[in-house]
Amino acid sequence: MAGKASWRLLLLAAGAWLLLWPPLASAAVHRSDFPASFLFGTATSSYQIEGAYLEGNKSLSNWDVFTHLPGRIKDGGTGDVADDHYHRFEDDVELMDSLGTNAYRFSISWARILPKGRFGKVNPAGIAFYNDIIDSLLLKGIQPFVTLTHYDIPQELEDRYGAWLDAEVQKDFGHFADVCFAAFGDRVKHWVTFNEPNVAVRKGYMLGTYPPERCSPPFGSCAAGDSDSEPYAATHNVVLAHATAVEIYKRKYQSKQKGSIGIVMYAAWYEPLTDTPVDRLAAERALAFDVPWFLDPIIYGDYPPEMRQLLGSRLPTFSPEERRKLGYKLDFIGINHYTTLYAKDCMFSSGCPPGQETTYALAAAIGERNGVPIGPPTAMPTFYVVPDGIEKTVTYIMKRYNNLPMFITENGYAQGGDGYTHVDDWLDDQGRIQYLDGYLTKLAKVTRDGADVRGYFAWSLIDNFEWLYGYTLRFGLHYVDYRTQERKPKSSALWYKDFLQNLHEAQ
Ligand SMILES: *[C@@H]1O[C@H](CO)[C@@H](O)[C@H](O)[C@H]1NC(C)=O
Repeated sequence: MAGKASWRLLLLAAGAWLLLWPPLASAAVHRSDFPASFLFGTATSSYQIEGAYLEGNKSLSNWDVFTHLPGRIKDGGTGDVADDHYHRFEDDVELMDSLGTNAYRFSISWARILPKGRFGKVNPAGIAFYNDIIDSLLLKGIQPFVTLTHYDIPQELEDRYGAWLDAEVQKDFGHFADVCFAAFGDRVKHWVTFNEPNVAVRKGYMLGTYPPERCSPPFGSCAAGDSDSEPYAATHNVVLAHATAVEIYKRKYQSKQKGSIGIVMYAAWYEPLTDTPVDRLAAERALAFDVPWFLDPIIYGDYPPEMRQLLGSRLPTFSPEERRKLGYKLDFIGINHYTTLYAKDCMFSSGCPPGQETTYALAAAIGERNGVPIGPPTAMPTFYVVPDGIEKTVTYIMKRYNNLPMFITENGYAQGGDGYTHVDDWLDDQGRIQYLDGYLTKLAKVTRDGADVRGYFAWSLIDNFEWLYGYTLRFGLHYVDYRTQERKPKSSALWYKDFLQNLHEAQ
């Protein structure tokens, strides 16, 4: 295909490129390795970037309340100010535009839109804020890809009836979704009901490390909770809240607004620790107890057989009316993929740590085999660099759900440091470039091989509040100086921009 001259040019360019990027000796991935219609963007979430936690008639969210309790967050950080995105969103849209992205995934703060849930009025200042973001994006040709709830919910719902533990929450979520579809659906064509409900439920009701901090031994010593039952009760309400919102969208809005609606799951990959039948089954169970826990009911109407087998009647059942509602399913699956871990059998073997996220799957999740990590470690514990994991995760979800449309809704790399880390060290993020290059290469391959993947969102646009880690981990393509709120592109931002322009050889 390429003529002699262009080959020579390519070699010259490749030489220059190797000098500029010594760690990237492998062939780089290109935008043109993906379909032209592919969405490429960055992702954020409301609590992690907005700040302005008492402005615009917003009420307190569960995360506002939680981060203000002593000792919950590593550096004592809160989302009170975060990236001050509430006042700086126009600058942040400029950053997206400078990268050349054509989509942006963000979430809506439920407490801004409905400070008292369905027990109060819609807040016009909240509607205005997201209208402004959406309009700024569209002016730049950037598609809004909107998550209704990314962990943060009005504290009101927790205080009134215990949020996800009560079926009331299905009505509240349906009302919130309805308000958002009506206000923004003329311009928003991709809706996500929940972000990583599998993480929110495990950490909120099994380990007790996220709000509402409910658990029982050996998972933790919370003031209240029951790790044996509450995660399954909460999941039941999340699944039915999803179904409620999807039914509203499909019956009232979709034919007019012509958008689509899905859910985003956290999806780690598990490799058997040893090449034995018991560890292979442990890896299968660890996988089934994670993404299919939510997606099997949404897509097939019941919890995974792998879970029924072990949990029996501890898993709730769906009534005929609930099954009818589940019939609305979803239009796409969002996949947040970062890491791969080993799974070790705990059904026949002893020596498994008690109270892990994988405990009910009778599996242990481990990062090392014989002292060797499964991939280069990152600053985030349990996050290793294993590019094959994204290909295997997409293949697994493609096979289990008949190749429904998929989006990689998060993928990214954490840098660690402290207040003394020099800004240049944050900006020179070669590890993140290698990570993105590796994962995008495997994503291009699995997409070429037939997986119906339609977009990719790098986590994250900017450094932000990383939940229990506060501001000690940085996932941004752009550095944020939290004293001045100044944003600066890291090397990875320039890499992503070049990737999107198909420019790697021309360095
Ligand atoms: C907040 O609510 C009050 C009372 O309804 C109203 O007067 C005020 O204008 C609102 N503030 C904003 C920023 O919308």
